[in-house]
Amino acid sequence: MSANLVSPNLNSSNLTFLSGKQMPNRFMLAPLTNLQSHDDGTLSEDEYNWLTMRAKGGFGLTMTCAAFAEKTGKGFDGQLGAAGDGHFDGMKRLADGIKEHGSLAYTQIVHGGMRTLEKFTGERPVCPSDNGETGARAMTLDEIKATEEAFINAAILSEKAGFDGMEIHGAHGYLLCQFLSAEINRREDDYGGSLENRTRIIDNIIAGIKQACDSSFSLALRLSPARFGVQIDEIVAYYERLCAARTLDFIDMSLWDVFQVVDEGAYEGQRLVDIFAQLDRHDTKLTVAGKITTGEDVKNVLDAGVDFVALGRAGILHHDWPQKFAADENFQSIPTPVTKAHLTTEGLGPKFVSYMSTWAGFVEESA
Ligand SMILES: Cc1cc2nc3c(=O)[nH]c(=O)nc-3n(C[C@H](O)[C@H](O)[C@H](O)COP(=O)(O)O)c2cc1C
Repeated sequence: MSANLVSPNLNSSNLTFLSGKQMPNRFMLAPLTNLQSHDDGTLSEDEYNWLTMRAKGGFGLTMTCAAFAEKTGKGFDGQLGAAGDGHFDGMKRLADGIKEHGSLAYTQIVHGGMRTLEKFTGERPVCPSDNGETGARAMTLDEIKATEEAFINAAILSEKAGFDGMEIHGAHGYLLCQFLSAEINRREDDYGGSLENRTRIIDNIIAGIKQACDSSFSLALRLSPARFGVQIDEIVAYYERLCAARTLDFIDMSLWDVFQVVDEGAYEGQRLVDIFAQLDRHDTKLTVAGKITTGEDVKNVLDAGVDFVALGRAGILHHDWPQKFAADENFQSIPTPVTKAHLTTEGLGPKFVSYMSTWAGFVEESA
């Protein structure tokens, strides 16, 4: 599957990343936690099937769920691990299986921070600063350095296993996003205070990966511009700084609803997608995710000037969404709720099907 599945007139930007890696088309599978890995974070057959089926279905880039890079960062049952040699064989099999279909293979790496669970880590969750609400304690400087190393090692492992690249998860209120947040991060050292200090952990991870991996290894960062204690103007400033640095292949903006209009502040009245699409990106690509479910949505997002669309729930509903779009640019995802049988046919194993039942309105209750 190497055809450009989106007609070029929708967006004239090219499909080549700064690293030199080439996207086959404009569709990415968004990172999706699916609870299907073994307890030790090794790859299961169900997780392999779910992801390789998406690669086969035409996604130009297929990304894993948010995987942990060190045991203290684990936050989910059945979470994939990229935390050492024990995970290598499964990662290699997965990367090979995805690339076999012409899709780029990507890991996403996360640390849960105050959202980890003691049942996985055996210790109190950690956070940039003590957090009364969750009971998490402030990380020491040595622990921050160790976490930076863990992300860098996960990139080295991903590259060795054959993945084309790795996305750093800086969104959704997990550890790196907790550092970004002036509300949550109350540190008074080099990792707290100014925006420059609050982005330091991510910046160090990026610099470390650029140094440790080959220049052809693709690197991306996921950010969310609002909620989770972050402010849109700060995320805009950081996005502009990152783009100008030209160290990332793409920034993946998790918007939850790409067309949402900002209702207050300096960006009041603007659609989230337009805010980021209209800023100078210096050849760093922009990916957005959030309620893209129809061909019309894809066309609107690309028309706004975005380079790539990431599909989450639409990619769960249809393993071959990009191919469906190639056949019919007005394709629409099947309406939800859907039956469990539908999800099984689309390659979700029982654990993932039951997880999707916890997402309101996604699975028919009686099914
Ligand atoms: C079941 C499920 C699991 C998710 N897991 C992750 C994850 O592991 N990492 C992440 O960055 N986002 C995760 N997300 C967010 C999605 O990547 C995506 O940004 C979001 O669902 C919006 O896109 P959509 O409307 O196309 O689903 C998850 C979303 C869903 C529905």
